[in-house]
Amino acid sequence: MSDNSNQLRYEIPDIVYGTWRILDESEKPSDAALAERFRVCLEHGIGTIDTAEIYGLYQVEAAIGGALKADPELKEQLRIITKAGIDVPSAEKSGALLPHYNATSENLVACVEKSLSLMNIDVIDLFLVHRPDWLTSPEDTTAGLDRLLEQGKVKAVGVSNYTIHQFETLDQLMDGRLATNQVEFSPLEMAPLYDGVFDQCLRGRVRPMAWSPLAGGRLFSEKNEAGMRVCVKLMELSPKYGDAPLDALVYAWILSVPANPSVILGTNKISRIRDGSKASVIKLDRQDWYAVWEAAQGKSVP
Ligand SMILES: NC(=O)c1ccc[n+]([C@@H]2O[C@H](COP(=O)([O-])OP(=O)(O)OC[C@H]3O[C@@H](n4cnc5c(N)ncnc54)[C@H](OP(=O)(O)O)[C@@H]3O)[C@@H](O)[C@H]2O)c1
Repeated sequence: MSDNSNQLRYEIPDIVYGTWRILDESEKPSDAALAERFRVCLEHGIGTIDTAEIYGLYQVEAAIGGALKADPELKEQLRIITKAGIDVPSAEKSGALLPHYNATSENLVACVEKSLSLMNIDVIDLFLVHRPDWLTSPEDTTAGLDRLLEQGKVKAVGVSNYTIHQFETLDQLMDGRLATNQVEFSPLEMAPLYDGVFDQCLRGRVRPMAWSPLAGGRLFSEKNEAGMRVCVKLMELSPKYGDAPLDALVYAWILSVPANPSVILGTNKISRIRDGSKASVIKLDRQDWYAVWEAAQGKSVP
């Protein structure tokens, strides 16, 4: 990987607002309500939203477009990350007979054009290949990413859920221009600490992004034993960190690792967006970080 990615690293902020679940509530938010939620994000220093073609079964990008229309200033103020490459049977993907991946240049370029139109924006700040597609050659995928960059339809590109080998292959073909690998990471899913993803990001000065930072809410579910152990530990630690909200402590735990993963919030609650925005200023002590690791694993370090 070349140093090109270095300059991109700092463009991905500590906290990003994720939109995967924004249409999941029984009462769908109006355009104005969604715009208001994005405004709260901005007021709390969260200026980037993460979305994807497939979110809300292909409905979320249009909802974001509606919010940007309701409050046109947001269009200038928000930065947008989106992804493509997952096709599932739906009205929008009439040719999809079963869920599958498609990271061909033809599909990626078409998806970006559709995303721009649905969100009614001129450029995507960061575009990611959502998942590795085992049937598309890296050359085909990078041809699409290069074309999108050349055409100015996207400012930067990256990948999501890629193994270190898949990342390296694509990144080499793109002369080190991949800006991120967005992967699952939380106290309940620590794979990137062990599978080399974070080490690779450190080596290439690429900032990874952590999705499902609360393990999709399982971290706070009474049904999850490891989650409950972590909660008890966080409650014990909270007073030491100025009565920090437990979710903010988890985000701080994620931000603490040297690869410094950007945290993607998944909540639909305004109060939890406010709480989460405080995470960047919390600096966890080394032994407190390990105490959370220990609680999650149910054992001490080997
Ligand atoms: N690249 C990928 O493949 C990929 C995959 C999945 C997600 N993502 C991205 O990552 C973002 C975040 O993922 P995620 O939604 O799974 O994040 P998450 O933060 O792990 O989970 C969010 C869920 O946890 C609940 N929650 C939040 N705070 C809570 C608390 N204090 N107590 C109890 N429940 C709580 C939320 O409910 P409330 O709404 O009620 O707070 C929501 O249902 C997504 O929006 C998406 O942008 C990317």
